[in-house]
Amino acid sequence: MYDNKISIEFLSKSQNEAFARVAVAAFVSQLDPTIEELTDVKTAVSEGVTNSIIHGYENREDGKVRIDASIKGDEIEIVIADFGRGIEDIEKAKEPLYTSRPDLERSGMGFTVMESFMDSLEVYSEKGKGTKVVIKKKFDTELG
Ligand SMILES: Nc1ncnc2c1ncn2[C@@H]1O[C@H](COP(=O)(O)OP(=O)(O)OP(=O)(O)O)[C@@H](O)[C@H]1O
Ligand SMILES: [Mg+2]
Repeated sequence: MYDNKISIEFLSKSQNEAFARVAVAAFVSQLDPTIEELTDVKTAVSEGVTNSIIHGYENREDGKVRIDASIKGDEIEIVIADFGRGIEDIEKAKEPLYTSRPDLERSGMGFTVMESFMDSLEVYSEKGKGTKVVIKKKFDTELG
C-alpha cells in the first residue's frame, strides 16, 4: 500500500510541462528532499513530459498526459503516461544520443538523463497505443 498518492492529467501543451514539474516537486517536498534531489526529480519529470508532448503526440496539443506519483516509505514512484504513437524499439530509444527527431534539434539524452538522475527507469510502450515511463527515487530521510 502507498503512504500517499496523487494523479494529474493535462493536455499535451508545452506550457503544462512547467505545471507538471512544479506539481510533482510540491508533492515530493513531503519527503524533505535536498535542493539537489528536488532538482533531479523536476528534471526527470520535465524530460518525460516533454517526450510525451513532442514524440508521443508530435506536438499536437489535444493529447492527454497523465502522471501518477506515489510515496512509499522514503521512495517516490512517478509514472508518466501518454496515449500517443508509442515507441517501436525501446532499447534503441534508451541509448544515449539516439533521437528520432534530429530535425527538431533534440539531442537524444532524455532517457539517459532520467536514468542518471533517478534510481531506476522502466519504459513500457506499444506502437499506436502509447508510452508509460516509470521512474523511482529513494530519499535519505532522517527518521526520528
Ligand atoms: N513518449 C514517447 N512517445 C514516443 N516516442 C518516444 C517517447 N519518449 C521517447 N520517445 C522516443 O525515444 C527517443 C529517445 O528519447 P530521449 O528523450 O532520450 O531523446 P530525445 O527526446 O530525442 O532528445 P532530448 O530528450 O535530448 O531532447 C525519441 O527520439 C523518440 O523517438
Ligand atoms: Mg527527450
